[in-house]
Amino acid sequence: MRKNIVAGNWKMNNDLSASKKLAKQVAKLVKKSKVKGTKVIIAPTFVNLERVVKATKKSKVKVAAQNMHFAESGAFTGEIAPGMLKSIGVKTVILGHSERREYFGEDDALLAKKVDTALQHNMDVIFCFGEVLEDRKSGKQEQVVESQIKNALFHLEAAAFKNIVLAYEPVWAIGTGETASPEQAQDMHAFIRKTLSDKYGANVADEVSILYGGSVKPANAVEIFSKPDVDGGLIGGAALNAEDFVAIVNAF
Ligand code: PGA
Repeated sequence: MRKNIVAGNWKMNNDLSASKKLAKQVAKLVKKSKVKGTKVIIAPTFVNLERVVKATKKSKVKVAAQNMHFAESGAFTGEIAPGMLKSIGVKTVILGHSERREYFGEDDALLAKKVDTALQHNMDVIFCFGEVLEDRKSGKQEQVVESQIKNALFHLEAAAFKNIVLAYEPVWAIGTGETASPEQAQDMHAFIRKTLSDKYGANVADEVSILYGGSVKPANAVEIFSKPDVDGGLIGGAALNAEDFVAIVNAF
């Protein structure tokens, strides 16, 4: 059965002490929370990963990286390899976030390589994609999302999807306060599941968790998460506050 997941992407926020503090607060609130089945993930910046892993060790909170290089090692100044993440206890990585695509030129071909490397290392991938406002205005959102998924993932074997979580994040809703309506999210998630089903069959499609991301807050999470094909959220701004983040976890 597919899992409900709430993941917090801290982006380039929080120094070491703020990261440890927020991680501990989240762990404490998650412990008190009544929600049993929901997987909770937080993704601090690279430099604070190890300390956040330690700070959450005895809790149910898992720690993810926000990015990763596709090579095992080598002359890639400023980059982080999968083995380095695993060596500090990080087994999950977010790939393809729209900010990586927009500001750092990451394209589908590069992301396909990163996904391959992560899977070779037995890591779990939260794979992000989504259309920009112009695509939605011109009704091309499904076409765009379908090509992002196909180009980066459809070379994989069906079994690989056991380690992949999809995160649909319409770019126009990220950090803007504008959320896709629960119906828009559901329609796209159903389309994504159908796209997977057409390629890999209904069993694979049914098992993959599909998260929604883009201005999810405690006030709108319940309605968005109530949709049948929405299995949780990738949370940016609201993940920087422990109460808000765990309120979103509790939205299930
Ligand atoms: P937001 O960010 O919740 O601040 O819109 C979501 C994301 O970028 O994952």
